[in-house]
Amino acid sequence: MILETQRLILRQLTVKDIDTLLPVLGDAEAMVYYPHPFSRDEVGQFISKQIMRYAKTGHGLWAMLLKTTGELIGDCGLALQDVEGRKEIEAGYHLRRDHWHNGYATEAARACIRYGFDKLHAKQVICMIRPENRPSRRVAERNGMAAGKLVFWHDFNHLIYSISREQWFVAFQKEREAEKSRKEGADGDVSVFLDSV
Ligand SMILES: CC(C)(COP(=O)(O)OP(=O)(O)OC[C@H]1O[C@@H](n2cnc3c(N)ncnc32)[C@H](O)[C@@H]1OP(=O)(O)O)[C@@H](O)C(=O)NCCC(=O)NCCS
Repeated sequence: MILETQRLILRQLTVKDIDTLLPVLGDAEAMVYYPHPFSRDEVGQFISKQIMRYAKTGHGLWAMLLKTTGELIGDCGLALQDVEGRKEIEAGYHLRRDHWHNGYATEAARACIRYGFDKLHAKQVICMIRPENRPSRRVAERNGMAAGKLVFWHDFNHLIYSISREQWFVAFQKEREAEKSRKEGADGDVSVFLDSV
């Protein structure tokens, strides 16, 4: 396990996840802001890419599982990206459509952003989002990110959403204090635990 939130577990993806990730990345309606929905082979390539990222950087996009059922409902994580010649840590997320509107993506992304600051010591965490992708923009905004420059990236215009380390600490200070007192009274090896968002 990489991260635990109130309702979710994030763990590394494996090749065994292809068929459960296909309904997430292969859904034409959900993937409307991507060039096309992923085929089964492309989901396999996506997973292989994450496995390479885990080996190279220790992080990547992780499987998102519902705690109550253990079901894989999406992916969320951190990827090192080149944006305008700079290395940036990007939070990414994809959620199966029948689980939209429950706050899962926001909850998972928040834990990942926090991981970026706490474990990777990032100066800022970004999300690269196409302007038309309103649901994704709302996830970023709920997590304290603000839209910046519009850049042409991976064949499309993308807004650079970002939150700096300083902004994060101010925005989520209260949450950190609550977590600290919870941790002091808790057992186990949970690396990150967040209140519901
Ligand atoms: C982007 C994506 C993950 C957003 O999914 P989502 O369901 O809108 O986001 P969340 O899971 O955070 O849910 C937020 C919604 O749940 C509601 N909600 C319900 N219970 C909630 C709770 N306990 N906590 C927070 N929000 C809650 C929120 O009010 C919000 O409502 P809204 O849909 O009216 O804005 C989804 O659209 C997706 O997978 N798209 C395809 C992949 C993609 O584009 N990824 C991003 C690339 S940049």
